[in-house]
Amino acid sequence: MGIKVLIIGGGGREHALAWKVAASPQVDRIYCAPGNAGITEFAECVSIDPSHTGALQDFAVRNKIDLTIVGPELPLTLGIVDAFEHAGLRIFGPAKNAALLEASKIFAKEIMRDCGIPTADFATFSDVERARNYVKQIHAPVVVKADGLASGKGVFPSLTADEALEAIERIMIKKEFGSSGAALVVEDFLRGEEASFICFTDGRTVSPMPSSQDHKRVFDGDRGPNTGGMGAYSPAPVVTPEIHERVMEKVMRPMVAALKARGITYKGALYAGLMIEQGEPRVLEFNVRFGDPETQPLMLRLNTDIIDILNAVIDERLSEICVDWDPRPSVCIVMAADGYPGKYEKGRPISGLKEAAAVPDTVIFHAGTSLRNGQVVTDGGRVLGVTSRGCTITDAIQNAYTAADKIHWEGVHYRHDIAHRAINR
Ligand code: AMP
Ligand code: GLY
Repeated sequence: MGIKVLIIGGGGREHALAWKVAASPQVDRIYCAPGNAGITEFAECVSIDPSHTGALQDFAVRNKIDLTIVGPELPLTLGIVDAFEHAGLRIFGPAKNAALLEASKIFAKEIMRDCGIPTADFATFSDVERARNYVKQIHAPVVVKADGLASGKGVFPSLTADEALEAIERIMIKKEFGSSGAALVVEDFLRGEEASFICFTDGRTVSPMPSSQDHKRVFDGDRGPNTGGMGAYSPAPVVTPEIHERVMEKVMRPMVAALKARGITYKGALYAGLMIEQGEPRVLEFNVRFGDPETQPLMLRLNTDIIDILNAVIDERLSEICVDWDPRPSVCIVMAADGYPGKYEKGRPISGLKEAAAVPDTVIFHAGTSLRNGQVVTDGGRVLGVTSRGCTITDAIQNAYTAADKIHWEGVHYRHDIAHRAINR
């Protein structure tokens, strides 16, 4: 008898995790809360919201779940791991005190400053007048960030003092992010190229995943508003072997050790968003989970049984595991609904999924999809993540676009330059 796994979340990241979990010979049944149309292929989707941690715990107890995997940050910051562990349930992800690394930018920045992890110089404020006075005196461009969770919307790159004042107004006076804006960070604006660096860690051993890069802007050429991510690829050549080593030595290991020194054993996936300029990586943010869409290309490259890795993390014996990655690059193209990241319609029938999935080395990960009378329809802003591997990055890109071009619904749009930076190098 194999194990029963519960995956929390319903995006492309969770589909990629479910796909990898389903490939494990150790797994008997998979549940996903709430899941999506693609995940129903190998999991039973249950309609529990990821923020309803009590209901998730009841479900896990009732269904004798052997292992729960948490996708999004919200349940982690609500303490789902602490609650499950208290109830004797096995769960992959950091505890509430460790999840503060994403839930409070001030907490993360202060640890970085205390242990010399390279990051933008910053000041923190909980008093609006002090924040205003501070930005009036500075000349260099700054970034203003709400302290707490804001679904990526609480970050304002402000080129002028007036823009910074406006950001402070929105965060602290208009309270656009609620209590997440009770305090804020003002930091130097960094230039360079971004990359995502994600590790498995059990609080002692740090096992890096290959590098990856997200594409945050909605349109080609990095134009238009920020999104949750319009595509990703792995590896990101901007992370040279030297930079990789530097990030491990200067960022990842020191952060895990710094948390340990504060009595916090970080167990889970730890994600550093980096800005790399002239070979120098600096941390923009820490996330306490797998990236979305970075997980889609990463899961395509993971050779090791993911259950072995997750169990080793939970049992704090990650040092015993050799995690093996496919050297072939992979690319994920996010196909989005018309209007995303603004307002968009749902319920549009999607065609061409079968034809696209027949493209070699390609998996179509679903994000915002649902089933209506057996037909897959759009049910979110980011709808699909067409993910392909190739012997070279060019092959991977070609496979992914060949597949994406076979898929259609009314108003579909996607970027046509995913992984362009990898080619330009
Ligand atoms: P964060 O949630 O802190 O990673 O910020 C979201 C995005 O804002 C990042 O992925 C960057 O594109 C941008 N960003 C954040 N901090 C800075 C910074 N100090 N300098 C330049 N861009 C930044
Ligand atoms: N891809 C950005 C994130 O997962 O936060």
